[in-house]
Amino acid sequence: MRTLALLALLSASSAFAASEADREKAFKADIAPLLEKSCANCHDPKKAKNGKVKSGFNSSSLADVIKGGTDDGVGITWGDASKSSLYKSVNMALTDPEHDDAMPPKKSQEKNPPLTKEQVAKIKAFIEAK
Ligand code: HEC
Repeated sequence: MRTLALLALLSASSAFAASEADREKAFKADIAPLLEKSCANCHDPKKAKNGKVKSGFNSSSLADVIKGGTDDGVGITWGDASKSSLYKSVNMALTDPEHDDAMPPKKSQEKNPPLTKEQVAKIKAFIEAK
């Protein structure tokens, strides 16, 4: 009986594995609005000075966010926020706000509000959703 219940659970979880379409939908609904508000001034080619995004990191689409920038590796490693520069940069703003990698940069936070703990947790959950 217990084994059966476990099997049912396992197959249910694999049936809900995040598909590309699910991720695109969740990105548009939950993540893009945060990036638009706190990152776009420097990381969206439509808003950044001379159309050049900082450090090669383009926050304007999921495909670009996944790629990441020039120095800190991929933006998203599905299943592992600790290997995702998107997560590491916004989490750094909570844990070590003076750090160069903390995003948005501390000195720019008047115009680019840092994410709250809940919003950073949302980004982690998005990256690690199964
Ligand atoms: C005021 C401008 C500004 C804002 C706003 C900003 N960034 Fe940045 N970002 C930078 C600069 C400058 C760098 C390069 C930092 C360095 O090399 O020390 C950078 C680098 C990065 C990198 C590293 C890219 C790489 O691999 O080289 C990531 C990831 C990043 N930002 C994410 C974000 C996210 C996510 C937000 C919003 C929550 C954000 N940034 C908001 C200016 C900004």
